[in-house]
Amino acid sequence: MRIRALEESDLLRLEWEGGEDYRRYYRDEWRCHQAGTQPVLVAAFLGFPIGHVGINLEDDPPAIVSLRVMEPFRDQGIGTALMRASERLCREQGFTTVSIGVNPANAAARRLYERLGYEAIGDPYESEWFLIDRRGRRRRMGETVQTMMRRLDGPAAE
Ligand SMILES: CC(C)(COP(=O)(O)OP(=O)(O)OC[C@H]1O[C@@H](n2cnc3c(N)ncnc32)[C@H](O)[C@@H]1OP(=O)(O)O)[C@@H](O)C(=O)NCCC(=O)NCCS
Repeated sequence: MRIRALEESDLLRLEWEGGEDYRRYYRDEWRCHQAGTQPVLVAAFLGFPIGHVGINLEDDPPAIVSLRVMEPFRDQGIGTALMRASERLCREQGFTTVSIGVNPANAAARRLYERLGYEAIGDPYESEWFLIDRRGRRRRMGETVQTMMRRLDGPAAE
């Protein structure tokens, strides 16, 4: 497994989750990656992207977004490796803090972030965004989000 930057040839392969309804989403992500506003890293196994994460550098502190690992490859440290690589990228950009949003009901993700030194900041809030699906329909997506943050220069720093 190797962590590397997103490549255009990854886009269709990333549809292992969400299928074709996410085609426009990944295309938009590729544009932001190329523009440098939201670099995307993938965990590649035999070249295939089995894990993926975005780092929104337009927010300050930067926000780690869309972390996910293909189910058969979970619990092997790949999520941790993607988080650490995202933090390194933020540090290289000169940031000293990083944030991530997690649904409080997502125990696996929250446990991972706490183990990596993230702390909950403020109260959970309702977040919404829109997905343009394969038929061009605008779908409202929403969930409860708890912001968590970690300093990159503290004692827990890698
Ligand atoms: C959250 C998510 C990204 C974690 O990815 P992951 O690759 O499973 O993460 P890790 O393997 O680094 O850590 C998960 C667990 O495996 C354990 N682990 C890590 N390496 C291991 C290894 N070599 N052997 C055994 N266990 C290991 C970790 O200690 C951790 O244990 P815990 O559940 O008791 O906390 C993944 O579950 C996922 O994609 N979920 C669906 C999408 C999602 O919810 N994303 C988060 C949005 S905020």
